[in-house]
Amino acid sequence: MKKKAGTDKPWGGRFTEKTAPAAETFSASVHFDMRLYRYDIAGSRAHAKMLAKTGLLSGAELEQILGGLMEIESEIASNTFVFRSELEDIHMNIEKTLVEKVGQAGEKLHTARSRNDQVALDMRLYLRDESQHLIALLADLQKGFVALAREYMGVMMPGYTHLQRAQPVLLSHHLLAYYEMFSRDKARLNDCLKRINVLPLGSGALAGTSLPIDRDFVARELGFTAVSANSMDAVSDRDFMVEFLAACGLIQIHLSRFSEELVLWASQEFNFVEIADRFCTGSSIMPQKKNPDMPELIRGKSGRVVGNLMALLTVLKGLPMSYNRDLQEDKEPVFDSVDTVSQSLAVMVELLSGLSFNREILLHATQEGFITATDLAEYLVRKNIPFRQAHAIVGQAVAYCIANGKELTDLTLEELQVFSAAIAEEVFEVLSVEGSVNSRTASGGTAGTAVMLALEKAETDLGI
Ligand code: ARG
Repeated sequence: MKKKAGTDKPWGGRFTEKTAPAAETFSASVHFDMRLYRYDIAGSRAHAKMLAKTGLLSGAELEQILGGLMEIESEIASNTFVFRSELEDIHMNIEKTLVEKVGQAGEKLHTARSRNDQVALDMRLYLRDESQHLIALLADLQKGFVALAREYMGVMMPGYTHLQRAQPVLLSHHLLAYYEMFSRDKARLNDCLKRINVLPLGSGALAGTSLPIDRDFVARELGFTAVSANSMDAVSDRDFMVEFLAACGLIQIHLSRFSEELVLWASQEFNFVEIADRFCTGSSIMPQKKNPDMPELIRGKSGRVVGNLMALLTVLKGLPMSYNRDLQEDKEPVFDSVDTVSQSLAVMVELLSGLSFNREILLHATQEGFITATDLAEYLVRKNIPFRQAHAIVGQAVAYCIANGKELTDLTLEELQVFSAAIAEEVFEVLSVEGSVNSRTASGGTAGTAVMLALEKAETDLGI
């Protein structure tokens, strides 16, 4: 068949004009969707095998296609492939090159397929890999927290609410709180994987195909656990990407919360922790400075990761059925979140191994601020005083201390008994930081016994 004069695009049959250069530049996506090439080729391979199985390709044609795809894959991997932006996207770049390599057989590859189901397939294959990669990085990070919790087991520090000293806790308890957050992040990605792992190929442009295809065969070839149920939904569904971006958002927020703590703790005001020099930078003007730039950047990058979720949701808002070119805008936010979150996780894993906590300073910080006042109230409850009354009694004792520049632990038994006759000698054990921590034995609490159980469970779950 002779091509019309106007255009040389694979879809150019009905066109009489070349695409305007501005339109070509504006719509090209190959400079970013080239990242999908392995998945595009894997999808084409499975599709071609299926076409051969159902008789739409001959055995010889299949061999030619598979050979051509293999060459293209190694050319892209070795940076010798020439990408052409006039061919818009990765799909047409590969297909056109295949036709140039193997001729007519290559022209049959797109049988019973559209770029609409093809691009949905590529993104699902891509996110399946990237989700697993993030899950592995999250496990590495958890191992880092668990190692620190083990190393500093027994070290006490103030626990905070409202960033005010509240009750003493074990540093390990604080660190294992992050272990829990990242466990949920792994669970969220695993849950998202169930929706990712559905085959959209076979949906055609939007309405399915009249040609004899075998979707179950393709699903098996590519390791999908299900095939999509509705062709119109399958080519326009980006829910799995929204879920993935939301999961990334939470990972980055969790990283950001810990980063904020590191920034605070590394300040001279707190001086709880020293971050290894290799993760800090200096100032170009102030010679004494050592700045915690890595946690600051991780914290700062939450802006773009949250933004990527909002960007995709906004792209989807109000889209009529089914595929619309707007959907090409789904990729850059996803790629950016994959890059940002995986880099942030990798940096944080290393950063953890370069932290050294100041045990004495942490302990010293628990000695001020009436941090065991709640223990005194609970002690009075054990003496049969209703909690509200106990709270008021301890409040008065604290007010007395403030007025006299003392801590609760500085008061004599006689001074304490002014506030309640129920107070006896054993109160000093109750008021001690160690007594306080070790009394919180209920599961999930900060007593050494409870934290040790949590730590051992975490180690078992991580296979340590
Ligand atoms: N580059 C496109 C995208 O990312 C591929 C699908 C284009 N389909 C179409 N009919 N123009 O969405």
